[in-house]
Amino acid sequence: MSLRVVNRLITTASRGISVNANSRLMMSEKLAVHRDTPDNNPNTPFKFTAENEKRIETILGNYPEGHKQAAVIPILDLAQRQNRWLPISAMNEVARILNMPKMRVYEVATFYTMFQREPVGKFHLQLCGTTPCELCGANDILASIEKKIGIKPGQMTKDKMFSLEIVECLGACVNAPMIQINDDYYEDLKTSDMERIIDELAAGKKPMTGPQNGRYAAEPITGLTSLTNPPTGPGFGVRDDL
Ligand code: FES
Repeated sequence: MSLRVVNRLITTASRGISVNANSRLMMSEKLAVHRDTPDNNPNTPFKFTAENEKRIETILGNYPEGHKQAAVIPILDLAQRQNRWLPISAMNEVARILNMPKMRVYEVATFYTMFQREPVGKFHLQLCGTTPCELCGANDILASIEKKIGIKPGQMTKDKMFSLEIVECLGACVNAPMIQINDDYYEDLKTSDMERIIDELAAGKKPMTGPQNGRYAAEPITGLTSLTNPPTGPGFGVRDDL
């Protein structure tokens, strides 16, 4: 058993849940610490655009004097949306704007996994690997992605179009298996759906988001099983003399 699997078992056992040791849905092993690289160091060019500087002013206006540093998450998010990922130079710029220690910004950016501290593709695929999605076929979805675009979790395609990451529950378990691509959720996936979605993204199209199996949301696929009668009106069940 590899060290990675042992670590996974220890982590999940401490949460009181079990895991299939044969699953390939391991979290990618991103470093929680920063190491300078040629592409990601304090001198990596980063400057907010004039448009985003105006947005920052608006964001800061939402916070009272003395509490402007609470804007660290929306401003980090803005930096990531501008640059696609967050180099350490962008975090330093956010620290400068908010007049807060750089380490405080690093603490936030390393805690929240939605902040990408390494380059990601134009379409960042975040496949849910938690138990409900795993039980409903996430391993098959992973295999179809790997076959389709030739990358494994933690990697990016050479043309920087797609990157892939395994993430923990994204809160759409009733529509498992699911994947988040940039800001959109694609749910109730089959491998053929996943391949089509990748094809459409690569062709510059906008695939239909949400459930891919005809469901509107999280209702039973076989039709309603409750609340099948029209709701009773006001006064229902109340004594006639009242
Ligand atoms: Fe996949 Fe919750 S387990 S969304």
